[in-house]
Amino acid sequence: MSVSSVFRSGLFDHKVAVVTGGGTGIGKAICSELLQLGCNVVIASRKVERLEAAAIELKKSIPESSSARVTPIPCNIRNEDEVKSLVQLVLKQYGRIDYLVNNGGGQFTSPAEHMSNKGWKAVIDTNLTGTFNCCKEVYTGWMKENGGVILNIIADMWKGFPGMAHTGAARAAVDNLTKTLAIEWASSGVRVNAIAPGTIFSRTAMENYKDIGPLIFQMSIPFSPAKRLGVPEEISPAVCFLLSPAASFISGATLRVDAGQSLYHATWQIPDHSAWPEAPEGENLNALKDLLKSKSKL
Ligand code: ADE
Repeated sequence: MSVSSVFRSGLFDHKVAVVTGGGTGIGKAICSELLQLGCNVVIASRKVERLEAAAIELKKSIPESSSARVTPIPCNIRNEDEVKSLVQLVLKQYGRIDYLVNNGGGQFTSPAEHMSNKGWKAVIDTNLTGTFNCCKEVYTGWMKENGGVILNIIADMWKGFPGMAHTGAARAAVDNLTKTLAIEWASSGVRVNAIAPGTIFSRTAMENYKDIGPLIFQMSIPFSPAKRLGVPEEISPAVCFLLSPAASFISGATLRVDAGQSLYHATWQIPDHSAWPEAPEGENLNALKDLLKSKSKL
């Protein structure tokens, strides 16, 4: 059973949303809530079988009284031509694109020193270039003349992203892209915002990290001020809010939906070491050494 929306039904009647990576986790929750609210939803992602299965499941979110439809369209957002044809197909089928939700992305864990050039490029290509491709094609193909709302899903990368340097760099870049596009496209009546989720648990997200998936998610719990993980249904209401007329004066903003996680401790452990350069000689260093000596006597 899907979680019911805090917004009234029919809020997005006759609107059309394109949600990338809409087949799993956060993307699927966003699609489900938009459908409940009367929005037509195009889910676009690369893995065709998963996409079609998600579309069948998402149909159950559509209220009986609603005329909303869900359409799966396979698309690799890294490929500019595939994104162009996605936009053309949506316009042919629905005649408009009111909302673009850039949720499609992916990464793997690796210390930066072991990251291959190929792995780095793949993550930058999907998370940053893929998002740019979708923004550009939806804007030039429809929103430039007709307005609309773009929402980018990024990540909690505010203290860097140790263990996933590639996605940290790409998501920080999308945060900046959000601000640029909010200004460049304001005169078309286009609002552009981002959401930075904290650690959000879904079965598919856990499986993405293979054997270490359960450990990654379990380890994160103490680092949340909420002392629990979030779920995709705690991100989708924020997406619906930012897409909705309730956010008509919000653009260029990034909303952290993370229970305060980004203000709290970081998970990365730095081992004890003596590799750091010495502090400059002088009165303060001497006082510091005295302090440490007295502390070791305690
Ligand atoms: N989700 C993850 N990677 C993707 C890609 N390359 N295209 C579309 N959706 C995706």
